[in-house]
Amino acid sequence: MNKISIIGAGTMGHSIALTVAWRNLSATIYAMDEREVDRATESIRQKVDTLVQADLLTEEEGNQLLRNLQFTTSLMDCINNTDFIIEAVPENLKIKKELYQSLEAVIPKDVPVASNTSGIPTSSLSSEMLYPERFIITHFWNPAHLIPLVEVVPGTATNEGTVKQTLEMLELLGKKPILVKKEVLGFIGNRLQFALFREAQYLLSEGVASKEDIDLAVTHSIGRRLPMTGPLMSADFTGLDVAVAISEYLYEDLCNDRKPSSHMTQFIESNQLGVKSGQGFYKWDEEEINKVSKRREQLLIEFLKLDTQKRSGKLER
Ligand SMILES: NC(=O)c1ccc[n+]([C@@H]2O[C@H](COP(=O)([O-])OP(=O)(O)OC[C@H]3O[C@@H](n4cnc5c(N)ncnc54)[C@H](O)[C@@H]3O)[C@@H](O)[C@H]2O)c1
Repeated sequence: MNKISIIGAGTMGHSIALTVAWRNLSATIYAMDEREVDRATESIRQKVDTLVQADLLTEEEGNQLLRNLQFTTSLMDCINNTDFIIEAVPENLKIKKELYQSLEAVIPKDVPVASNTSGIPTSSLSSEMLYPERFIITHFWNPAHLIPLVEVVPGTATNEGTVKQTLEMLELLGKKPILVKKEVLGFIGNRLQFALFREAQYLLSEGVASKEDIDLAVTHSIGRRLPMTGPLMSADFTGLDVAVAISEYLYEDLCNDRKPSSHMTQFIESNQLGVKSGQGFYKWDEEEINKVSKRREQLLIEFLKLDTQKRSGKLER
């Protein structure tokens, strides 16, 4: 694989490109204008500096990584002679479909096209493509260069060759791909994440505990174990008999709201959007945002270092 094309230089596009370049593959990123090129270049530089400071890269490797990246504001240059295309444009069906039409007018029919959509089903995205068999979803998580998981979601028309090439490409990137065998909304990660989010909101609205304590109940208990044992393996350690006994009385009492809660609607109406508007469940200023982001980034880096040790055989599983 000589060249991977990334379309979109926003939050996901630039960190996916960084991931590609980190593995010494050539990444060409399409950005809409020079302003975007400058913003994405600066974000990548900062992230590379952090990786160097964390000893995940030497300075020379950091420079090589940057040399592996090319920006272009020409879509044609981006996809010319490419081996694989990853689309990271806004979560809008019309924008994505129009883009695939432009791509298919010029690329050979066997070049895979992958979308980083957060949840639009594969078959809806590819419904008007000339060659839907080349289309697949690769759902990277933010920040793509620090989170190993990528959910791979073939559609009903995706062929085996595309699935194989996609999994091979993700292995080359050092990612942990998982195959989502059915086109379910939200794939796997977001279904699990939003089940937890729904229950957390419910507990808060019922006055069961403060927002800080509800968050602590995750970060300082199940959150500590989940990096090692996922929910199914955790249940094996709990004991399935115990898990069933708890399920018997608890399931009935869990939140089963079918719509976002009225609290959430009120938040949105009063522009309480979280970090980006300075107020969500918590109040946010620049200092607090930086503190939490930095701490989260450091923890993700520590996990990556553990993964690296595991790969080199210094740690068991
Ligand atoms: N942000 C996240 O945390 C996250 C996580 C996982 C998946 N995703 C998904 O990844 C995709 C990209 O999200 P993002 O957060 O990077 O968005 P973003 O808004 O940060 O970036 C989108 C990029 O697409 C470009 N763009 C806009 N219209 C375009 C067009 N017509 N043709 C080509 N490029 C165009 C924009 O200029 C920008 O560079 C979305 O599908 C989103 O749902 C986002």
